[in-house]
Amino acid sequence: MTTVASMIPHSRPSIDEEDLRAIAEVVRSGQIAQGPYVERFEVAMAGLFGLQGGVAISSGTAALELSLRALRIGAGDEVIMPSYVCQAPWLATQRVGAEARLVDIDLQTFNIDPVAASRAVTNKTRAIIVPHLFGLPADLTALEKLGVPLIEDCAQTLGVTEQGRPIGTVGRLTVCSFYATKLLCAGEGGMVLSNDGESLDRVRSLREYDGAPTLDPSSFNLKMTDLQAALGLSQLERLQAFQERRRFLAETYREALSSKAAFLPSVSPGRTHGYYRFVIRLPQFKTAPDGLLGLMSALEQQGVHCRKPVFRPLHLYLHQSGFPNSDEADRTALSIPLYPDLTDDEVQQIHQSLRKVLS
Ligand SMILES: Cc1ncc(COP(=O)(O)O)c(C=O)c1O
Repeated sequence: MTTVASMIPHSRPSIDEEDLRAIAEVVRSGQIAQGPYVERFEVAMAGLFGLQGGVAISSGTAALELSLRALRIGAGDEVIMPSYVCQAPWLATQRVGAEARLVDIDLQTFNIDPVAASRAVTNKTRAIIVPHLFGLPADLTALEKLGVPLIEDCAQTLGVTEQGRPIGTVGRLTVCSFYATKLLCAGEGGMVLSNDGESLDRVRSLREYDGAPTLDPSSFNLKMTDLQAALGLSQLERLQAFQERRRFLAETYREALSSKAAFLPSVSPGRTHGYYRFVIRLPQFKTAPDGLLGLMSALEQQGVHCRKPVFRPLHLYLHQSGFPNSDEADRTALSIPLYPDLTDDEVQQIHQSLRKVLS
């Protein structure tokens, strides 16, 4: 039995000496709450997307909530989102009192299906939350034709393009997450970015209450600290190197799995993939006695921790039906460890374990 100490984790942040130096500098400065580093991080992230500005927040989930508030979405309004995603978009929608309209995904890309989204549009629809899952852009070209404001959720995807356009630049607002194991980490953290200065001002005013001229119950303390921003800024310096390493690792997985009965991540024409996750589909495990759980436990015996990429689709929590592609993804999708810090030995171990359990 493999011990936990030798287990290759499913994800792990990449922290180096520069990151530590950046954090130490902030600690020594005595200014550790929201301050100049947060401002610099906002400017740097806006520069990354080529957008007018950004407002740093305490998490990606809070950034989604403040995006909805910035668009003045609330009770009586509907927000479309895919079912196959973490709870964050649904929670944000509940927090503002709006109704979440769940739609199915495109099984090839795991992203929101624009046709399903178009069927869900009503006269109450005020926004579509568009997560770009696992590093692959959603079909922004089709979605923007629906004429509904898009909130691009870039928590899992940065620096890739759809039909030549950088993702995060098409929607009205864009949201990032800097959780510990995201593409850029700050421990926790999020950001709302946009070319819409008015929305950004509203997000800025909602993230804190100090100095507010009125009592606004939708304000809260959702600030990012300079400690987090310094780490984020330091990580940003290495984003390109991270991306190259991710693409290299993805290629090794493609080779290692080429002869196996597995659907590998598909990259539709006109898109690039950032490989935040390497998610394969294994329909044969739908009928296995323990399903994917049995496979994951066999991989753990080999010292490789794999996970379901989405813990549970939203429609299952809400006891809704009619989401066949999300159901299929839920039963067949497996996320294999892929992050810049994986060593070559670990990569070999992952290849061997996958070959063994999928033989
Ligand atoms: C697609 C997506 N949106 C939003 C979030 C929420 O981000 P955070 O964990 O920073 O609140 C996540 C985080 O897992 C995510 O994967």
